[in-house]
Amino acid sequence: MFFKKQTTWIKLFDSLTSANDRIAIGNVATLQIGNKKVCVAHTSEGFFAVNDKCPHNGASLGSGFCTDKGSVVCPVHRYHFDLKTGRAKSGGGDYVQPYPIEVRDGAVFIGFEETVWNLF
Ligand code: FES
Repeated sequence: MFFKKQTTWIKLFDSLTSANDRIAIGNVATLQIGNKKVCVAHTSEGFFAVNDKCPHNGASLGSGFCTDKGSVVCPVHRYHFDLKTGRAKSGGGDYVQPYPIEVRDGAVFIGFEETVWNLF
C-alpha cells in the first residue's frame, strides 16, 4: 500500500460540562476548526459532527436543527441527513461528510481522517 489513512484528533471542548453548556441536547452549532466549518449536533445519543455545508445548496447545517431520530435538518429546504452516515434520509445522492467524535479523559475530541503517503 502506498497510502494509509490517518486520523488527527482535535479537542473541541475541555469537558463534557463545557460541551453541554455550548450545545445543549437537541441543538446544533457551527464550529470553525482550522479551515473547516463543522456542524456539531447534540442528541440523546451524544455528540455528532458533520461538514457544515449542505450539499443541496450550500446552507449552514449548524443553523438548522437536529431530530430525536438522529438527523440534522437543513434550515433552507429541510433535507434530513443521518448524523452517523451522512446520507440524506430522502435517498438520492446527497451526502454530507460525518466526522467521528470521542470523549476521552472527560474532554471531547473530533477526528479528521486524511490519506498520507506510506512508502516505507
Ligand atoms: S440548501 Fe440544504 S436542503 Fe437545500
